[in-house]
Amino acid sequence: MEDKREKLKNFYFQIKDCMECDLGTTRTRFVFGGGSAFAEIMFVGEAPGKNEDLQGLPFVGQAGKILDSLLNSIGLDRNMVFIANVLKCRPPNNRDPEIEEINVCKKYLFRQIEIIDPKIICTLGKYSTQLLLNTDKGISDLRGKVFEKDSRIILPINHPAAALYTPSRMEVLQKDFTRIKEIMDAGYRIPPSCIKAGEIAGMEDNQVDMDKTGEQLGLF
Ligand code: URA
Repeated sequence: MEDKREKLKNFYFQIKDCMECDLGTTRTRFVFGGGSAFAEIMFVGEAPGKNEDLQGLPFVGQAGKILDSLLNSIGLDRNMVFIANVLKCRPPNNRDPEIEEINVCKKYLFRQIEIIDPKIICTLGKYSTQLLLNTDKGISDLRGKVFEKDSRIILPINHPAAALYTPSRMEVLQKDFTRIKEIMDAGYRIPPSCIKAGEIAGMEDNQVDMDKTGEQLGLF
């Protein structure tokens, strides 16, 4: 049987030349994501920036340095986790991702999650949090809470870039990474206090419909 690494590698070769949206024409490199195919922790950011676009790797700029130091602070490094983004190609001038781009690209992230099958997904900032929790609530409403979806933990945290301009945000990030460590140390057991996607009224089959917003579903 093909192992996770092989599957992930094959998936990369399948999608790396994607031209399904206009970002395919402006990117330098497709940024698939990186780390261990066997990771128990996955981080999902927003989209590649300038450095990521040039190198073809996620979080290699300033925000990446912050992410590395936060990982190191809890005894991890980027080879022990998997780091991906909602969008695989850089939006010109680092503009915000557009909804159409997210809708085209999200299937790649979902397949990566399916292959890696992490125990916990830490969503970095608004875009990955809203996509994975299927909500239009802002990150400030969601960070600090622990969610369960598809038998795994989703932990929304601030985007590390937030600490570049507002150093006090670093304390909040550090607190959230301490929470990740606690969850790791507890064997990734889903905390009883977490908010379960399957218990939310209006959803069938315990599945979140990614094409509807949380508000439509009465998620929060
Ligand atoms: N910001 C992101 O969201 N992703 C990256 O890969 C780099 C910066």
